[in-house]
Amino acid sequence: MALNKFNMPKISNKGQQMPESPIRKLVPFAENAKKKGHKVYHLNIGQPDIKTPEVALNAVKNADIKVLEYSHSAGFESYRTKLSSYYKNHGLPIEPSEIIITTGGSEALLFALGSTMDAGDEIIIPEPFYANYNGFATASGVKVVPVISTIEEGFALPPITSFEKLITPKTKAILICNPGNPTGYLYSKDEILQLAEIVKKHDLFLIADEVYREFTYDGHKHFSVMNVPGIEQNAIMIDSVSKRYSMCGARIGCIVSKNKELMNTAMKFAQARLSPPTYAQIASEAALETPQSYFDDVIHEYKERRDTLIEGLNKIEGVKVAVPKGAFYCIAKLPVKSADDFAKWLLDSYENNGETVMVAPAAGFYSSPNVGLDEIRIAYVLKREDLIRSVEILKDALEKYNML
Ligand SMILES: Cc1ncc(COP(=O)(O)O)c(C=O)c1O
Repeated sequence: MALNKFNMPKISNKGQQMPESPIRKLVPFAENAKKKGHKVYHLNIGQPDIKTPEVALNAVKNADIKVLEYSHSAGFESYRTKLSSYYKNHGLPIEPSEIIITTGGSEALLFALGSTMDAGDEIIIPEPFYANYNGFATASGVKVVPVISTIEEGFALPPITSFEKLITPKTKAILICNPGNPTGYLYSKDEILQLAEIVKKHDLFLIADEVYREFTYDGHKHFSVMNVPGIEQNAIMIDSVSKRYSMCGARIGCIVSKNKELMNTAMKFAQARLSPPTYAQIASEAALETPQSYFDDVIHEYKERRDTLIEGLNKIEGVKVAVPKGAFYCIAKLPVKSADDFAKWLLDSYENNGETVMVAPAAGFYSSPNVGLDEIRIAYVLKREDLIRSVEILKDALEKYNML
């Protein structure tokens, strides 16, 4: 092995460029706060406290397995068949052969990038976006080209002309997250149709991360890229059981497309990693039996949490927030210069009756430098009493921080 001048094997440039999670970098500060005996309300991560459907957990408990085998690389056929019925019942015309089961939506995103882009190619993503898109793009040698959506516009789709200005011969795809993490924005049918027009016109893929599809509020309906006639060859949908059934630890998702060549390509990536996890597929297949009442209750719960949070935030002077129409996140603009510094200070130097909150500074959700510096992302995955207390703490903390 070639050794560098310090006689150390050399880490790859790609590895050095891999971004750290902007959320997890605050973890040591939270650990310190906890060591001091402080209670930390976690508004920083999308780990729901909602119970996983029993039918999914029981399926694993009752599974009588003698050999924990690999499954088919595309996932159990029985699971793909039931998943296809689930999608059809939700108005999405998806066949089992158009689905590959993956290890979380995360692996589906990697397969999507791997199958559509070469090193140096460009992907246009409205920002702020799910921070791990940066990591997946770096791992794939792909350049993220951001198009900025703003809190002033409620994070609506930027004008189509803003996308067209960014398209170069290296642009291979547009990636959207709908409903959005971190914005909670839900693209309208009209916005999706506008995107469909551009991808058709420029022969691009349209990758839609729809892992929060079920979480929409106020009667708003989710409109999938799989429902747009004429972009069957362009559309790729990313899905996951993580949030739908509060099964983040199962690590099951899927990549879906009607483009056969794309799916054959994604299948080669799937074969290279052999198979998605077996027990987790058993749980995910059983989860499809979850009654509608579970979702009605969960959506009702999230809507209440959202309303509680937004009402509380709106009462804090200087805070501006775009009301989320879906998912369980919102971006709030704070009356501070550096949300990063404020977030650290909350953990490091502040407490309110032995309690504090952990938030995610939003700059990590932008790839443009120096944007969103005064914004945070809040995940409303805690119960209402905790959200009320968290807002109380934030209000008090902002007052104290701004007097420093
Ligand atoms: C927008 C979005 N996409 C994809 C994922 C990845 O989810 P998983 O790999 O757990 O399916 C997440 C997780 O938080 C997410 O928020």
